[in-house]
Amino acid sequence: MNEILKPLFHRRAVKAFEPVEIPQVLREQILDAARRAPSSFNTQPYQFFWVESSPRRATAAKLCMGQMPAATASALVVAVADIGSLAATSQAQLDWMRRSGFSHAKIRDYERTAKIGRILFMPGPFGIFGAVKWAIFRLLNLWKTMGMPPLFRPDLLKWATKSTSLACQNLMIAAEALGLNTCPMEGFDGRRLSKFLGLSTRYHEIVMVIAIGKKSPAYAQPPQWRRPLEATVTVL
Ligand SMILES: Cc1cc2nc3c(=O)[nH]c(=O)nc-3n(C[C@H](O)[C@H](O)[C@H](O)COP(=O)(O)O)c2cc1C
Repeated sequence: MNEILKPLFHRRAVKAFEPVEIPQVLREQILDAARRAPSSFNTQPYQFFWVESSPRRATAAKLCMGQMPAATASALVVAVADIGSLAATSQAQLDWMRRSGFSHAKIRDYERTAKIGRILFMPGPFGIFGAVKWAIFRLLNLWKTMGMPPLFRPDLLKWATKSTSLACQNLMIAAEALGLNTCPMEGFDGRRLSKFLGLSTRYHEIVMVIAIGKKSPAYAQPPQWRRPLEATVTVL
């Protein structure tokens, strides 16, 4: 099998881990792989919390309902969709472009796109701008082919969740390629876990928690089942 596909096909949601320490060099490679995932407008609208120190990990595991993968993992990675970092991210990219010697035209283009992005993605107080933009886009859409940008806060969080999920999958495949195992989890108390991590209810939403470690030899992995290809794919 193709070397890149191997970890992809071998990855399983592992429900019990043995206690191993994940070396810093592996942690960094895994997190670096996560952020290499594509993201909408390259905004990278997420944050990862790598929880490994023992009292914090125990608390986080408890907030994952004490699930076995959480309770036995070497680390818990909390993946957070973050819509509060957009302005800082575009400023950081702009600074990087200036430092890297991009042409004035390219920098101006990026500034313009970032400005449009800010206007499009800003829901404003009580979602007021969102409602106005929704009406404008709906009207324009009557005679023009166009996509609808995320307008209200829940749409924005859903938008950020897409990019966050892609980064999560990269993270899991990278862990697998480096000889570790993972289990993605959405069984957690989002309110308490957010509070524990000091997240903002306005800008952050936990997308998933990924338990990471080395599969316990005592864990018997059930066979993997998938719907047949023709049930999920339409070739047109
Ligand atoms: C979004 C998401 C949430 C999940 N939540 C949990 C969970 O809370 N607890 C758990 O044990 N497994 C969880 N899983 C793992 C799935 O049960 C697992 O991926 C699925 O059964 C397929 O198994 P496989 O990944 O080994 O092929 C979750 C997976 C995804 C993608």
